[in-house]
Amino acid sequence: MKIAIFSSKTYDQDYFEKYEEDYNYKISFFEAALNKDTANLSIGFEAVCIFVNDNIDKETIKRLSKNGVKLIALRCAGFNNVDVEAAKEHDIKVVRVPVYSPPAVAEHSMALILTLNRKTHKAYNRVREGNFSLKNLIGFNLSGKTVGVIGTGQIGAAFCKVIKGFGCKVIAFDISKSDELMNLGVEYLPLDDVFRQSDVLSLHCPLNTHTHHMINKKSIALMKNGVMIINTSRGALINTVDVIEGLSDRKIGYLGIDVYEQEENLFFEDLSESIIQDDLILRLNGFPNVLITSHQAYFTKEAMDQITITTLENIKAFENHLELTNEIK
Ligand code: NAI
Repeated sequence: MKIAIFSSKTYDQDYFEKYEEDYNYKISFFEAALNKDTANLSIGFEAVCIFVNDNIDKETIKRLSKNGVKLIALRCAGFNNVDVEAAKEHDIKVVRVPVYSPPAVAEHSMALILTLNRKTHKAYNRVREGNFSLKNLIGFNLSGKTVGVIGTGQIGAAFCKVIKGFGCKVIAFDISKSDELMNLGVEYLPLDDVFRQSDVLSLHCPLNTHTHHMINKKSIALMKNGVMIINTSRGALINTVDVIEGLSDRKIGYLGIDVYEQEENLFFEDLSESIIQDDLILRLNGFPNVLITSHQAYFTKEAMDQITITTLENIKAFENHLELTNEIK
């Protein structure tokens, strides 16, 4: 079977080449993202493998179908960038990697919290320049603080366990409650109460019509003054304009994001010599209490191994007409 891997970076290639000989596929790597303009690169391939910022809308699906593509294999968990209905209409199967390493993302959320709080990124630069002053480096004890978790699936649950270890009170909102987490002392509350009571708010729910822009002017107004907001889930959970206003008003004390609504034009690329046209990210970068990482929460060796193996196994199951356990229906 011939597979086209889109949005491919050298590290993706390294991992697919590591496992390639266990499978008998002809893999081609394309740096381009897959969208309606690049869909013709799929001619001659039965399967395309995509990542978080490929845009598989109705038109792209139509073109993939015309080119003979039968399978879209996401090498990620979230699938908000694929028009699954359109794929179904064109008899194209869509599979994903539902779980690869919840601790990887949970631990990165923790890294954002600790860095924003204790300002280790600033201290590192200061000390290297011979500046041993503590001015403006003051943080707060996490122990005893209330941490709100929205979405307590695989990643949210892993995050609850980590943050519990810091001595925090953990409150949560999810459309379905986890008995395991309740037994560990996590308290489920209505969403607005989670907004009202949290010192730190961490987002771990998927992006869909119910969660789109859930962090907005109205929800920010409910939050504590100086709240810390962490988003390692999907950029569009946050209304960026409203968050910038919250930061300007000092209502939001800290913002840590690994994802950003307009990230497909920026993330994963070296734009250090470019003139960045996205004014919102430039504004966010101007705040001393904002920390942005470039969708790297998943990026551990363990997660990359798991993503690659599951993707290849998904393709193998499709090729052998076996049940597609990771199909998005
Ligand atoms: P999951 O499916 O295990 O958990 C999602 C949870 O959100 C479920 O418990 C579900 O009931 C809950 N949920 C659904 N709708 C909700 C709503 N309206 N309000 C509150 N909760 C709701 O997914 P998992 O693996 O925990 O991943 C969560 C998200 O993390 C993914 O959707 C993806 O967007 C993001 N992600 C980010 C990565 C990164 O590198 N930054 C890597 C992997 C995932």
